[in-house]
Amino acid sequence: MAKRKRKQTRPAVGVEPSYPPVQAGLLSPMRRVPAEIPRPPYALHGDPGPSVSSLTRTPDELAAMRRTGQDAAEILLMAGTLVKPGITTDEIDRAVHEASIAKGGYPSPLNYRGFPKSVCTSVNEVICHGIPDSRPLADGDIINIDVTLWKDGVHGDTSATFLVGDVDDLSLTLVRETARSLDLGIAAVTPGGLVSDIGKAIEGHAVKHRLGVVREFIGHGVGTEFHSNLQIPHYHERRLATRLELGTSFTIEPMLTLGAPDAVVWDDDWTASTIDGTRTAQFEHTLVVSESGAERLTMTAAGECAHDLVAAALA
Ligand code: MF3
Ligand code: CO
Ligand code: CO
Repeated sequence: MAKRKRKQTRPAVGVEPSYPPVQAGLLSPMRRVPAEIPRPPYALHGDPGPSVSSLTRTPDELAAMRRTGQDAAEILLMAGTLVKPGITTDEIDRAVHEASIAKGGYPSPLNYRGFPKSVCTSVNEVICHGIPDSRPLADGDIINIDVTLWKDGVHGDTSATFLVGDVDDLSLTLVRETARSLDLGIAAVTPGGLVSDIGKAIEGHAVKHRLGVVREFIGHGVGTEFHSNLQIPHYHERRLATRLELGTSFTIEPMLTLGAPDAVVWDDDWTASTIDGTRTAQFEHTLVVSESGAERLTMTAAGECAHDLVAAALA
């Protein structure tokens, strides 16, 4: 997600069982992508350069985004099946890396602004951009897996938070309501409508459940570029007059928290954690503005996604 500097504090909502903080593990060597796999321009040097792409997609680009989005949705579902106590986030990274290549695509995170791995894995109090490493998942953890695939010249960006074994009730509420907040954000999209209606819907839901809304990371335009200039806050930004044109492709990816929504970044320069160590959850889809609202591009051919699956399990 894109970065944005703003601050907000709010009190914790309840008594969370206490867990040992997530600590960095060891990184495996950088994974290779076979020479025959096409790669985005930044793959070589890490620098995506300034955003120059249109916010709207041509018919050909949109068709490509449906295909790539489908592949990304399938990879995320596969990654979710691996989630259980004992598996390391590095093993999840290997599976996502290999699945991306098997589909003829490039795992977008790999070397994006120097990110060292092929997927983001964010456990418990880690908000986003967690780096897969040697830490095994523990019973009771929650983990967001954020898959982005680049194929046919476009990115598909999607994530879900999965449960590891037996998860406490407060965390279940957090995950369930974060999934619902994404549905409400998507439902707020209309052609010609205000971008700020998305954050209004998400923040309204979060407030109702006494959850915090992360402000430092936001949704973004996505298409031929991983992150374009369009910004999608998940809080109600009343001053934002931007409207969503038909054909605009972007993500919604709310991060909600049990406590303070403020982030601190680890000294690996990536891993963003809640400042108070309380848990946080996230779900993400890539969308396009259609005549009827928003079309989800990160869905399987059968119309499934990890987001819906987790939500159904918690309903
Ligand atoms: N997938 C993330 C997003 O939703 C971005 C990850 S950037 C990376 O925007 F470099 F950490 F991969
Ligand atoms: Co994103
Ligand atoms: Co993402």
